[in-house]
Amino acid sequence: MSEAMRTHHCGVLRAEDAGRSVALCGWVARRREHGEHLAFVDLRDHTGVVQCVVDGAADLRSEFVVRITGTVRERPEGTTNDQLPTGAIEVGNCSVEILNAAEPPPFPVSDRIEADESVRLRYRYVDLRRSKMQHNLRVRSKVNSAIRHAMERQGFVEIETPMLWTPTPEGAREFLVPSRLQPGRNYVLPQSPQIAKQLLMVGGFDRYFQIARCLRDEDLRADRQFEFMQLDIEAAFTTQEEIHGFIGEAVADATEAISGERPVIETLTWTEAMERFGTDKPDLRFGMELVELTPVFSATGFKAFQAACIKGIRVPGASPDYGRSKLDGLTDRAKSLGAKGLVWMRVAAGGALESPVAKFLSDDEQAALTSTMEAQPGDLLLLVADERRLVQEVLGQLRNDIGRPPVSDGPYRFAWVTEFPMFDGVDDEGHPIAAHHPFTMPHPDDLDLLETDPGKVRSQSYDLVLNGWELGSGSIRIHRSDIQARVFKALGVTDEDAEGRFGFLLGAFRYGAPPHGGFAVGLDRLVAILAGEENIREVIAFPKASSGTDPMTGAPKPVDARVLAGLGLRTLPPST
Ligand code: AMO
Ligand code: AMP
Repeated sequence: MSEAMRTHHCGVLRAEDAGRSVALCGWVARRREHGEHLAFVDLRDHTGVVQCVVDGAADLRSEFVVRITGTVRERPEGTTNDQLPTGAIEVGNCSVEILNAAEPPPFPVSDRIEADESVRLRYRYVDLRRSKMQHNLRVRSKVNSAIRHAMERQGFVEIETPMLWTPTPEGAREFLVPSRLQPGRNYVLPQSPQIAKQLLMVGGFDRYFQIARCLRDEDLRADRQFEFMQLDIEAAFTTQEEIHGFIGEAVADATEAISGERPVIETLTWTEAMERFGTDKPDLRFGMELVELTPVFSATGFKAFQAACIKGIRVPGASPDYGRSKLDGLTDRAKSLGAKGLVWMRVAAGGALESPVAKFLSDDEQAALTSTMEAQPGDLLLLVADERRLVQEVLGQLRNDIGRPPVSDGPYRFAWVTEFPMFDGVDDEGHPIAAHHPFTMPHPDDLDLLETDPGKVRSQSYDLVLNGWELGSGSIRIHRSDIQARVFKALGVTDEDAEGRFGFLLGAFRYGAPPHGGFAVGLDRLVAILAGEENIREVIAFPKASSGTDPMTGAPKPVDARVLAGLGLRTLPPST
């Protein structure tokens, strides 16, 4: 029988192992000369590093791949290293076998040295050796495992849906796949398994889940990649509360698996979220809630406050930190977000309000403002007056700008946001835009408003929010073709168009579609937050750079004219 390549991992050896013969494999992290022949070689694998004392290490360089056999021994008195888990021991009497030489790495494999992003992505296989990336991808694996177990335990069946699919209206641009056998025709890569999972409900699979790859051709951001993963679920004969329960179990299990903490999930309506936090994805880790001030100024003589809505935020104790230039910066920020201006007030030691506009406010108004905002000496108050939605959005953004802790700060504050409006804004042609997607069931009490006042229709959709990130969305779906047709109509999709694009779905609804609903959690975002990372790239093995390219493979690349011809395609010169 041949000898195993290794007996132990590098990072696991401890004082109790002294005297053991070991065989270790890994990469040379560092070599330090120690006298004429001896060298300390730090050997690294994914578990950590261990110091090996090697006689004749002159030809060993950083990142060489080696196998070292030797004997574990306690380090001599005074040479132990408390910072290192293996710092009490070293491996002596070493013999070294070079398994592969390596060129000098493009950047040091160390968490302490920040390498340039494009270099990291170009040499991702080297970057992945860093302990941070090793940790992050292992967090990801644990999250996937916890989620899969939670869904199986709850009676869900894992089913794969196609990657070659047909357009689904979910808001993002889709990646096109030209067909070779049907020249001139195209598949699209799925934005999500939305329609497929609804068809599975018609197909009698009560409870479906998938750890699904989704593709969207949208501009990349810290929380957005072209390709991302969802925990995607759908259930028939269910309720919104039951869906919250299913997803709640999965995300709580995942969070507990990584942090040891089992989170509770709060619920607030969309209206409440907008009123209190000025956003549909509130970060509940900090206060500074928006305070309603409209009644305080209902009869004001101050022009700027004669508006439909006035709200304020109180930044506790911040007055001394905000000098004139910082306040001007906040005002500019508010204006760039669409506000007409920003009123700031400092609360002086005696409780008086110091502000350039204080003189325009009556004593009663000032007193009511102070008590409504629970203002304390040293606080900074920021007020905006305008249409309600604008006030909410501006102050919600300022609240985040000023108070939001970094991702890596706990605790995990999950919240369900429910009762979203069905439509949000209008498109170029004046048709309302679906706030979630067009398969969402309107609130039963609001069905009649579809044709008369669509802006007022509430939907049975809900988001899951974690620390200010939108983690996922879902809804109770339309399962009747007549209601689906009315919603398409409200969106400006003609019957003909609906039949051409989604005839297969409307058809399916006529063959016994059960009531159903579902949800999708963005796994990259969940893992990023659990790993304390600001950018989902840090939890994806091979992400795209923010330009959308892959610096490692060079993708996207032009293809050979013959390949294009085989697909019946010709490229035009880029338009200028
Ligand atoms: P939605 O479009 O809201 O819903 O997507 C669900 C969640 O997926 C994540 N996500 C992304 N993550 C990384 N990069 C992206 N480009 C990206 N886009 C979305 C987010 C988001 O909350 N079919 C519906 C779900 C349903 O109704 O069941 C859907 O896909 O975390
Ligand atoms: P003005 O009356 O435009 O000279 O503005 C007086 C002060 O009120 C300035 O500090 C403005 O930034 C502020 N301001 C003006 N309009 C608004 C508004 N709609 N909401 C909050 N502050 C405003």
